[in-house]
Formats: sequence, C-alpha cells, structure tokens
Amino acid sequence: VTLGVDLGTSGVKAVALDREGQVVAEVTRGYPLLTPRPGWTEQNPADWVNAAVDALRSLTGALGDHRPLALGLSGQMHGLVALDARGGVIRPAPLWNDQRTGEAVEEIEARIPRADLIARTGNRAVTGFQLPKLLWLRSAEPENFARVRHALLPKDYLGYVLTGELATEPSDASGVGALNLASRDWDGDVLAALELPRDLFPPVRESWAVVGSLRADLARATGLPAGLPVVAGGGDNAAAGVALGLSSRRPGVGSVSLGTSGVVFAPLTRPTPDPQGRVHLFCHADGGYHLLGVTLSAAGALGWLHSRIAPEVPLATLLAEAGAVPDGAEGLTFLPFLAGERSPHMNPELRASWVGLSLAHGRGHLTRALLEGVAFSLADAYAVMRPLAPLDALAATGGGARSDLWLGLVAGALGLEVRRPEREPGAAHGAAILAMPAAGLFPDLPAAVEGLSPGTRPVPPRVGLGGAYPRYRETFVRLYGPG
Ligand code: XUL
Repeated sequence: VTLGVDLGTSGVKAVALDREGQVVAEVTRGYPLLTPRPGWTEQNPADWVNAAVDALRSLTGALGDHRPLALGLSGQMHGLVALDARGGVIRPAPLWNDQRTGEAVEEIEARIPRADLIARTGNRAVTGFQLPKLLWLRSAEPENFARVRHALLPKDYLGYVLTGELATEPSDASGVGALNLASRDWDGDVLAALELPRDLFPPVRESWAVVGSLRADLARATGLPAGLPVVAGGGDNAAAGVALGLSSRRPGVGSVSLGTSGVVFAPLTRPTPDPQGRVHLFCHADGGYHLLGVTLSAAGALGWLHSRIAPEVPLATLLAEAGAVPDGAEGLTFLPFLAGERSPHMNPELRASWVGLSLAHGRGHLTRALLEGVAFSLADAYAVMRPLAPLDALAATGGGARSDLWLGLVAGALGLEVRRPEREPGAAHGAAILAMPAAGLFPDLPAAVEGLSPGTRPVPPRVGLGGAYPRYRETFVRLYGPG
C-alpha cells in the first residue's frame, strides 16, 4: 500500500490505498483553528505534527498484512510556517483564509505591475497567499522576521519534520505567489523586487519525487518502517484533482466542489492565466497546470443559514423547503459573499445580501435563493475560465454535492454536465496516488492517475433557471458596480 496524509484546516486525514486504489484504512484527527483577532486565522504547526503522527500510528495499526511502501503529502495551501536557523517554528502559522495582509498586497502591487506578476506567477497578489504573509511579518513583527531562515507551506513543514529535508513541489508552491509558472521554479525577479532572499524558499521538486525518508525516531513513534520514502505530494486542490482522475492530458473534464468554499477546477496543458487574474492559475501535480475558481462561501453559506438562522430544523427540511420553491426563488436574489469573495471579484470586503424580499417570501425562498446564488457565483468564475479551459463535464464533490437539487442548479448555472464520482476520494487519496510511482506500483504518475480514476454517474438534469442569473448580475452591479 501507499499512504497519503492530508493536512486540512479542521484536521488531518491519513489513508492507505492498495494498488487498485481501494482504501485499506483511513484515520482522521482534529486540531484547533486559532482566531486571535478578527480576520486572523492561525494554527500551531506542532498541532499538525502531533495529529499527523497520532493518525499515522493508528493507521499503521490497521494495516494488517499490508506493507507500506511510500508516503505522499497533501495539505491546505498558502499558509506560512516561518522557521529559524535551527528549524524551530517562530510563530503560529497564518492560514489560507487569513485576511490580515491588505497592506502587504498593496505593497506587492506598488512594486510589481499587476500584468507582469500575473504573466510570471499566474496570479495577482491575493490576500490569502503566502507571499503577502511574509511582507506582513516583515512590517508587523520585525523581530520575528529577522529570525526567519525558511518559509514553508503547511504540508512541506510536515515533510520537513518527517524526513529532515526542506522541499516543496509546484502545485503548492504556485500558491505562494512567487513561483514562475513557465520554469516551475522561484521567480528571482519577483523576489528581488520585494527584497526577499530566494534561499528563504525550499527547492522545488516534482510532486511525485521522493524528497527524503522517514526519520528513525518518527518510525518508532508511528510504527512505520524507518527509511520509508516520503514523496513531495501536492496542494489539496491538485491532490484532490489527482484522486478524481483529473489530468492535464485530458483538459475537458474538471470538477466542482461544494465544500465550505466552492471550487471549480479545470486542468490545463499550458500555463495561460486570465490576464486580469480573476481566477487562479496553479501548477497541477502531474506536470501540467490548472485553473481554480474559488467562491469563498458555498456549503459554508448553507451551514451558516442552518446554524444561525434556522437551527431548530434539520438541514434536510431546509433543502426540501427550497425544493418546493420555483426556479428563480420568485424574484429573490442572494449574493453569497459572507466572507468576501475571490473569483472573479477578488475583493475581501464584499458582503452578502438577500435582495428583493417581499411578504410572499418565506424560509424556503431564503434557502432556494442561497443555493442559486452560490451556483451563480460559481458560474461567474467559470465564465472567466471557459475561454481558457472549456469543459465538457464536471465531477462533483464536497458536502453540498450530496444534494441533487443543488447539483441540478449548479449544472444549470454553468451549462455543464455534472457527474458524481462512484467513490468520493479526497486530497489524502491523491497524496497516496502521488506516492504510487515511488512505491513501484505504477510505472509513472499518468499511469497511476488514469488507472485509479473513479467512475462517475450522471446526476439529475440541469435546472432551467429562467431569468434568475441576469437578475443576480443586475443586483451585483446595482450594489457593487460592474466587476
Ligand atoms: C485554494 C485555497 C483553499 C485551500 C484550502 O486557493 O485557498 O482551497 O487550499 O485548504
């Protein structure tokens, strides 16, 4: 078997896959999310390590006769783990959804023309990325910044603890904001313009490359064999793409995820960014590229409605009420920007609203408009992606994808066929697949991705949304201006 470890935002998942891609064992362990100030989100890297070691120990115990051959890593993207000269963690790690970097983003935009940054790195300066976090540290905590010798991404820090080696790979590194997408290596000009030394950042290896082997003390702590090869792995979106069989060799098939945030993932052969940077362009873990449209509140918006507005009824009741409301929610529109927005508006200051409420509307309309608003927001992101990466079909994942109603609305809004994977693999599975070539179970990564791609089945047909999408756009323009 190969092992995959995904360092998520709420917890770590460790999984063991056999060479048919079947799950032999799976373990999750949680850890706290720290919010020391409004807009700040942090985690203690030591919590990640303790949870991962505990999860691996428990996973090893469940392997029976299966022999672990290699371990791959995946994780939440964009976080900053700042290490001192001895490899010690300097402060808690700010995460991908942290919003403290407004001024640092302005500093990057003042020093590097936006079009140049997008052409080099695939993205404009984004609040959540790692690069502005480093600039924030430099101005807000200069005594801490003076001690920084290494800037690592979350999963790469775990890799460092497991093996003693500093390394990263392109899919996660392209979420730093300073990786040159053409060369798949750090962009010296971007770093020089920001007066950041290049050797702060670890060497970039391929996602399926062995970066080191499991240290003896951690082998004892986990029960895994000492010297187990550890593979670089991928950022969680790329790793989840690998697990779904999404390949830059087969660009017509993408995915939509209705998790806390909503994501449209489209594989690409060549690094062609949106010239305005309204969607992300990252390296894929298979040597190619992918576009990523991110709407920050998807199932998170539904969860908010349920927990804050209607906690007394089960979620299924809310969804059934929404299903009884006609398409278009009888004139009610929801803009889903509860946490600001990334694609396509790239504006952390946007806020949500229901617009057009009347005495005739009830709770079902609120839920229906929310589901439609999230679908429209994903459609806004896909409208930017489509000219660069047209898709024929989407594999649907995430908690929200359990709702046939919601998937029908998403299919209608995007004008695409939406299919459900036969099994719901996640980023940890992708990490285990990225370790298959190193384990000798497949000759190379494309063979592993293709060989282990899950089958999909169709979901209920697209919902005709009538005039609801133009109304959503009009409401947006009325409230925020064109954009
Ligand atoms: C992608 C992003 C999130 C994190 C979540 O740009 O910020 O999907 O990777 O783990």
